[in-house]
Amino acid sequence: MASSLLKVCVRGFSSSSVVSATIKNVTVIGGGLMGSGVAQVAAQAGQKVTLVDVNEKVLDKAKASITGNLARVAKKQFKDNPAEGEKFVAGALGNLSTSTDALEAAKSADLVLEAIVEDINVKHKLFGALDQVAPQHTIFASNTSSLSIEEISKAAPNRKDRFGGLHFFNPVPVMRLLEVIRTPHTSEETYKAMMEWGKALGKVPITCRDTPGFVVNRLLVPYLAEAIRLVERGDASAKDVDIAMKLGAGYPMGPFELADYVGLDTTKFILDGWAKKFPDEPLFKPIKMLNEKVAQGKFGVKTGEGFYPYKK
Ligand code: CAA
Ligand code: NAD
Repeated sequence: MASSLLKVCVRGFSSSSVVSATIKNVTVIGGGLMGSGVAQVAAQAGQKVTLVDVNEKVLDKAKASITGNLARVAKKQFKDNPAEGEKFVAGALGNLSTSTDALEAAKSADLVLEAIVEDINVKHKLFGALDQVAPQHTIFASNTSSLSIEEISKAAPNRKDRFGGLHFFNPVPVMRLLEVIRTPHTSEETYKAMMEWGKALGKVPITCRDTPGFVVNRLLVPYLAEAIRLVERGDASAKDVDIAMKLGAGYPMGPFELADYVGLDTTKFILDGWAKKFPDEPLFKPIKMLNEKVAQGKFGVKTGEGFYPYKK
């Protein structure tokens, strides 16, 4: 009983009856893997969401995937009442709009969550511009996997106390963890609003200091890197390493399946950033096999090929 309940909690879709008092209008910037997932769960939780990307085609793809995922949730949550399920999908989609204009979208936001490329310069440019136009009360947060939140927040000097990290996990509709990161400048009020918002989305928030990789990625990324090095040395095949970690360690995906799922480009961005920051740490040293895949445009599931081929 306890284990089946745990399984439902861990693998089931997030749902919550908690309502966020402070954050009701959310702008999510970056409509890729993560941004589209966050936009979905926020819209599902009754928030007004604007999903922003520089690329209109990405927004079209995000809308299609959100619609499909909502139908999946509805089928599961309302299996005995399809009419309620349809209402749920229509309600969530009604809460969602898209835009290519981040500055305009930020003007009505209580929270701006950034989920764009893992590059500090690009994030700085975005937050610097947003800081000029967003209302005074608006909280800024980054979904970064590996960068320092305090470092990112330097681009938004007007709201150092209203800046934090909200780190979601892929696939967002399924993974229940949310890492909430406060910098030395994040106010108690902002921290509480972020925690409450996470709960309103049905996530289980944990708190971590602003350290590289927070909790999960500090453990997970070196593990992925070591798996690639193991195959690069010829110790075992990628397929056998994946079988080993699934059947021998109980992981739901092997490290190569997971790296393809996260994105090899994102994995490389993380490792390269840490290699620069910690030049003496062997765990973060560049990996030829990974760099070659990225140079060939093989980013994993999202491009149709990584360590494995995928149907486009
Ligand atoms: N969106 C919405 N729902 C999804 C989904 C998605 N992308 N993928 C799967 N699901 C749902 C399915 O609909 C299914 O629900 P039903 O039981 O109602 O059918 C449920 O989740 C289980 O999915 P599947 O049966 O299709 O597949 P699975 O059992 O193999 O689970 C998985 C898929 C949840 C992705 C599982 O393999 C898993 O947990 N993998 C590990 C994921 C992980 O470690 N994520 C963290 C990555 S690190 C990160 O995110 C941080 C970073 O900064 C890089
Ligand atoms: P992605 O490549 O799927 O999506 C990024 C999107 O941002 C792209 O669609 C791109 O067009 C858009 N973009 C780039 N610059 C922009 C700008 N200035 N304004 C608006 N949109 C812009 O990336 P992702 O995997 O969703 O990762 C996004 C962020 O989330 C990164 O910081 C990453 O480290 C982090 N993250 C990733 C994962 C994962 O598993 N992939 C998990 C947790 C956190």
